[in-house]
Parts: sequence; C-alpha cells; structure tokens
Amino acid sequence: METELLNIESVSSKQKAAALRKAGEIIREGGLVAFPTETVYGLGADALNAEAAAKIYAAKGRPSDNPLIVHIHDISQVYEIAEEVPDEAKAVMEKFWPGPLTIILNKKSCVPDGTTGGLHTVAIRMPSHPIARDFIRESGRMIAAPSANTSGRPSPTLASHVYEDMQGRIPLILDGGAVGIGIESTIIDMSTGIPTILRPGYITKDMLEEVLPEVKIDPAVSGRTMKKDIVAKAPGMKYRHYAPKGQLTLVEGDKDKVIAKINELVREKKEEGYKVGVIGTDETLDAYHADILRSIGSRQKPESVAANLYRILREFDDLECDYMYSESFFEQGLGNAIMNRMLKAAGYHLITLQEGLVWIIARLL
Ligand code: TXA
Ligand code: MG
Repeated sequence: METELLNIESVSSKQKAAALRKAGEIIREGGLVAFPTETVYGLGADALNAEAAAKIYAAKGRPSDNPLIVHIHDISQVYEIAEEVPDEAKAVMEKFWPGPLTIILNKKSCVPDGTTGGLHTVAIRMPSHPIARDFIRESGRMIAAPSANTSGRPSPTLASHVYEDMQGRIPLILDGGAVGIGIESTIIDMSTGIPTILRPGYITKDMLEEVLPEVKIDPAVSGRTMKKDIVAKAPGMKYRHYAPKGQLTLVEGDKDKVIAKINELVREKKEEGYKVGVIGTDETLDAYHADILRSIGSRQKPESVAANLYRILREFDDLECDYMYSESFFEQGLGNAIMNRMLKAAGYHLITLQEGLVWIIARLL
C-alpha cells in the first residue's frame, strides 16, 4: 500500500478542505488515517466499526487486549457511547475539553469489543488540535485512535515519525507539523468510585482537583520502580512502552553530582568501545562530553522537556546509540508525566545519588 503524506498545515484552505475530504472518505470506508492532535499523532479509524478498529491493531502490531481511545469533536457525542455520565464527569469535560484529557466511562453496547479490548468501559477524548477536530467532524464518525507509532516505539510527535513507522501500512497521513504537548493525554477513570488517574499527562492531579473533591492516582503508575505485583488499570500501562535499541539510564541528585556521575559513566562506556549519548538540559548541556549530546529543553520550562522527549529518544535510536544517560526531573505537575514516560523508556534504570539539601527541599515542595 502506498502511504500518502499530505501537508495540511501550510496550504490553501481549498487544499486543506480537499485533504480532509479524502481523509473522511477513507474513514467511512473503514480505512486508517493518521492525524495530528495536541498531544501526539493518532492513528484513526471508525470507532463503531469493529473491522476498521481491528486494522489499527494490525498496523501497529498492538496486543488486542489494549483498548483504544474514542475521539470526538463535540461533547454531545459522549451520550452516544457512554451509559452514564456522572455530574463530576460533566464538570471535568466542561473545564478541560477540548484538550489533553481522556475520560473513562461505562460504555453503551454500540461500542464494539474490538475498540475497548473487551472492557465494559470506553475511553473518550475531545482533542483541541484544530486539524483533529476538523478531521473528526468531516469524517462524520467518532474516531478510535491510539498513538500512531509501531507498538514499542516512542509516540510520534512529527508526521515524519508516523511515516517511519506506518509507511506501506496505511493510506494517508495528515501532516500538521510538530505537535504542541508531546506526551499522551492524562487518563482519568470516572466509571466507578473515586476518580482515578490511570496515566499522568499535561492535565495534572492539582488541575483536576480544581473541579473534583478527590482524585486518586493508580498505584501502578506512580512511583519509580517496576511494580510487578500491581496490575495497571489502563491495560496499555502494563506494557514496557518503549524499548530503546540502547540502554537508557536516568541519574538524579544535586546538579553538579549528576553531571560528574554521567560524565564518569560515559567515559567508562566509551573506553569499552560503545557509542554513548547524553540527554541534558539547556542549563547543563555544555558540561557533558559524549558522542551524542541532546538538550531535552529548559528546566525553567517543563513544557519544552515534554515536547522534545520522544523526538530525542527516536534520534538516539536512529544514531544507533548503545548507552544513553539522562538527567531526571522533579515529579511535580507536568514532571510526573515526564518522569513516568522516562522511567518506562529506561526500563526503570535509575541512579539516585546521595541527596543534598537543595534536592530534598525541592522534592518536599
Ligand atoms: O494523547 C493521547 O491520548 C493519544 C492521542 C492520539 O489522542 N492517544 C493515545 O492512545 O495515547 P494509546 O492507545 O497510545 O493509549 C491509550 C491508553 C492505553 O494505555 C489504554 O490501555 C488506555 O488508554 N485505555 C483505553 N481505553 C481504556 C479503558 N476503557 N479502560 C482503561 N484504560 C483504557
Ligand atoms: Mg501509545
């Protein structure tokens, strides 16, 4: 199958309309279209067509028990697929939609098992990216979409990442340039009991607590070790998301100690003849010596770190780096989501250096 990569960002409104029309036709015929959202690129199919949803699993090489998120363009669509919509869920939708938040609710029977991995719940998100919303509206369908990467690779933040992974497997990619946020949506389970975060993202617990009296975090996604005996409530969170070709190790502690430790580890691996990379920040990159150096962004702007993370991990893979060492980030606000993804990418390889006062105080804040 030929994969067409259609620029939809810097084109005339006529060209844009034609591209969206084409995308809509493919969806209505049961095919797949990759499209940009504000978090990462998605791989979309008609959510209520089980055969179409099955194509997503085939294209991604994704385990079939891992359910898909249904993307909508209007809140009214929630009532077509969700059995009950509690008042608390309505308040969350009003506050955070359109945006990077996925809400789990009990499903209606029209949502096929092929979309929900056999669960009685459905994950719903109304993205804010204008192309995503135009695409969903134009298709006349609700769109089931996981991230548009091959299973086991970092989520795509550029159309070229989607092309790398999906070339020959899907007919169309809508190229809307770089996404804004760069890590996947926050997932909150509102189908039962106290609302629970199943995947941390841009919308943080504190933000959710502005409209909800109580929010829990699924124990399987908090913390810094692999929890073998706790089953994640979001089936996808149990898979080791991204297995880099090389080994990534995170180092945490006081800044100067971290730099010294990473440089020491790099020296050792280089002496053994390996290709070694470092992920630093705008504030520290000059202090490192390695074959490949990348700044993940500025510590002053956690948004920049989230936006660059997956692209940099892909670059290290492309450069066939054997060992990678990275600074780590405070697990506060967006830092929770950043560390959740980085720890997974590192297979939970984390070196904690003896903590200085500054580090301890910052952690307590
Ligand atoms: O930002 C995002 O959410 C992106 C864009 C494309 O919208 N999508 C995305 O989809 O990250 P995916 O398939 O890569 O991740 C969906 C996660 C998986 O961990 C899956 O197990 C969980 O959502 N999930 C989906 N439906 C669920 C349900 N009914 N109950 C619990 N977890 C669910
Ligand atoms: Mg994914």
